[in-house]
Amino acid sequence: MTRVLTPQPAACPNPTAKAVTLAHLIFERPDLDQAARFLTDFGLVTSKGTADVLYLRGTGNAPYCYRVHRASKARFVGMAFSVATKAELEKLSRLPGATEPKPVDHPGGGECVTLTDPSGFVIEVVYGQAPVSELPHREPIHFNVGASRGRINSTQRPPLSPPEVIRLGHCVVEVADYQATSDWYTRHLGLIPSDIQVLPDGSPAVTFFRLDLGDTPADHHTLAMAQGFMPLYSHSAYEVVDADAVGMGQRLLREKGYRHAWGIGRHILGSQIFDYWNDPWGAKHEHYCDGDLFTADRPTGVHPVSREAMAQWGQPMPASFTKPKLTPSALMALFRNLRRSPDLNVRKLITLAKLFG
Ligand SMILES: [Fe+2]
Repeated sequence: MTRVLTPQPAACPNPTAKAVTLAHLIFERPDLDQAARFLTDFGLVTSKGTADVLYLRGTGNAPYCYRVHRASKARFVGMAFSVATKAELEKLSRLPGATEPKPVDHPGGGECVTLTDPSGFVIEVVYGQAPVSELPHREPIHFNVGASRGRINSTQRPPLSPPEVIRLGHCVVEVADYQATSDWYTRHLGLIPSDIQVLPDGSPAVTFFRLDLGDTPADHHTLAMAQGFMPLYSHSAYEVVDADAVGMGQRLLREKGYRHAWGIGRHILGSQIFDYWNDPWGAKHEHYCDGDLFTADRPTGVHPVSREAMAQWGQPMPASFTKPKLTPSALMALFRNLRRSPDLNVRKLITLAKLFG
């Protein structure tokens, strides 16, 4: 087999800014009541709601992590990162297409610069957002393990209620312009590739990016990017207290009649125990716990991509994660991006279809 040396996404030594949190996601939905119902059944808490915008939070100190705007069609708009200094916000505001820093009218306030990444996702960068008081959540369950038997004459009874979401963990997108988009995040927000899954020719298929927090451990991935033929939301993930919260979430969401997507299992890259559910518009939302934490100096790993490489145990990853709906507009995007994207060609699409078909 001929191995083509394709450049892999790499950390930028001197980025425009270093994102310190994934602050929130932005969606459009035709029915805010239906959105609120799913998201609170999923375990988020409504922090503010108007006729046109809904804000939800976890139990952590972020004022909100999920913003939904009323619109005629369901759509993923983009995501927001926060930066630690005003100087970084000002540097980002000088990038092509960026807005000036503007006061924020959402919970937590602060200032925001709005950008668009090379794949067309809206990226808000926030500085100076005020944290809120944390909400109480139950303690993680302690196990009796082998000789370590701390629970005697007592039982395990996690509450039969939506699993408390602590915080937004990560977002995963598919893009056609893979190299330009991943370069934009490493160059301007300082993201570091934790692990890259590659096709047999060496070209990147999935990159898991973490925040550069120096010696402070960061989630294995805050953003992940998969090679697709058009920009798409894949899923977003929310940390819950422990594996029993993941399991209780599955029971409750099933009883409420929502559509299950995948799980329960344990990922390989990132190590999270996971469970995925579809919202009423078919957008995947993941409960997870026990993810890996890396400091900035951990080197990037490179691994072959496959369906089997996605989980250590649990059912295999279903086709709904990799088979796009070939609507007329998706087909038009496919042919358009095959012509114009330097990262796409028919051979690569056939390889991806064989690996994940
Ligand atoms: Fe995930």
